[in-house]
Amino acid sequence: MSRRYIVRFDSAKLPKIETDFLVIGSGSAGLRAAIEANQHGDVVLMTKSVLKESNTRYAQGGIAVAMSKEDTIAFHVEDTLKAGVGLCDQTAVGVMVEEGIQRVLEMIQWGANFDKEGDTLGFTMEAAHQRRRIVHRGDATGQETTDVLVRHLKSQDGVKVIEHAFAIDLMTQDDTCYGVIALIEDTLYCVFAKAVILATGGLGRIYQCTSNPNVATGDGFAAAWRAGCEMMDMEFVQFHPTTLFLIDAPHYLISEALRGEGGVLINSRGELFMGKYHEMADLAPRDVVSRAVLNEMQLTGALCVYLDVTHLKPDFIRNRFPTIYQTCQHYGIDITTDVIPVRSGAHFMMGGVRTNLNAETNIRGLYACGEVACTGVHGANRLASNSLLECIVFGTRAAKAAIEYARTIRKEDYTRMRIRSDDAASAHQTAPQEFDLHAAQESIRETMWQNAGILRNERDLNATVDKLETLDLNCYWNSIEAFEFQNMLNVAKLIADAAIVRTESRGAHYREDFPERDDTQWKQHIVVRRSAPRLF
Ligand code: SIN
Repeated sequence: MSRRYIVRFDSAKLPKIETDFLVIGSGSAGLRAAIEANQHGDVVLMTKSVLKESNTRYAQGGIAVAMSKEDTIAFHVEDTLKAGVGLCDQTAVGVMVEEGIQRVLEMIQWGANFDKEGDTLGFTMEAAHQRRRIVHRGDATGQETTDVLVRHLKSQDGVKVIEHAFAIDLMTQDDTCYGVIALIEDTLYCVFAKAVILATGGLGRIYQCTSNPNVATGDGFAAAWRAGCEMMDMEFVQFHPTTLFLIDAPHYLISEALRGEGGVLINSRGELFMGKYHEMADLAPRDVVSRAVLNEMQLTGALCVYLDVTHLKPDFIRNRFPTIYQTCQHYGIDITTDVIPVRSGAHFMMGGVRTNLNAETNIRGLYACGEVACTGVHGANRLASNSLLECIVFGTRAAKAAIEYARTIRKEDYTRMRIRSDDAASAHQTAPQEFDLHAAQESIRETMWQNAGILRNERDLNATVDKLETLDLNCYWNSIEAFEFQNMLNVAKLIADAAIVRTESRGAHYREDFPERDDTQWKQHIVVRRSAPRLF
């Protein structure tokens, strides 16, 4: 079994930081949780990079919320459940959709400048929604969300923000969390807290092609798993069908909202193709579109397909999608006249740390929210633009539950703890000098993309597990690159293992050797703990 801690430490010998609430991660879930908790005690918010860097910042589409005249909570719940293909937790979906309205209104009160049509909010459309229900700020809703939450956080006194702080491992004893061991600048610290809120975001960077920023290496998933958290639905990784495909350019997200506004996919022969694959054509669910894109690439022998919006009014494109327009322009593509080369990329993790409706995990004092959590709202496939909604709803809930828990904890209960890595005294088990971390990370990305991506089968998944096992040195590490490598390895293995077990196709998990959905055997979740797989 992999080791419990990936860094050697002894809390008695390290500098300490103490707080009531420790929030790890500065995406919308972490920021929203910190804002809530700050009214009830000292808050430390740690972030791996800088405060405004996170997956949230890159969200383009918007926030799905049932606020338009034509929409209802029931419709939004229905679409979310349908997208999740039988694996959503209906109560959690109800909570997200209902409370989401209040959370969005609150953000507007805090200054969010969402696009309007006349005097009222404007709603856009994305795949698998039966109504226009996505509030947005042009095509940069994530940036607007981040800006508003950061501004609000800063307007409150008290939250101590620590940037460039890498949370390596959660410190636990007897299934209770007491804080984290973190590398801040170049020093190892023990950060003790009455309650810890894990909001570390996603893991797209374990795949070669991804819309996610560099920080998304799955650190929170891996640390939670090592700490003994129950991990649920790890086989369900969503691939976004349209990321920019240009040699030497990042896989920049090309929002589904472009198709929501009338954009269409064509193959390298200039043929429309989505009508062949689904009755909703270009607005089919993301897994269907991603597989269709791959199939068309194979049929035509091309390296990508194209998104065509040239039939839309140029002014509309420039005003509604200014960021995409400018980014493509930067790479020499004028999207008002040229088609956009695209292919699929890893985008969002549906699974994660299993939580209840209050974002509580099975570890006392540890809460999880946002992409790292599996609240049950996404099931086997996330409905577009439900992610920011989930973040602000369950970020708030996590803080509320943490506040209640913290009332029961005395400072001495955790500051007196002495926690150390299992064999802190032994001198062996450090990584060999010659181990090439960069090549090892690349190897994970490549094997996950080739074998555990959009199309999966038993042979390739087994090969993935074998490959990952050869890379696992099961030793202590001492650099950020190494911690990230170990985290990527841990989460890649969790995904591949769960993908092997689920012998059916459902939502984002597609098995070529089991192409049908199997409700008799598989309308259930796969949950694992460090040494104990379980189905329920
Ligand atoms: C997009 O804008 O296409 C992505 C939105 C999302 O992932 O929900």
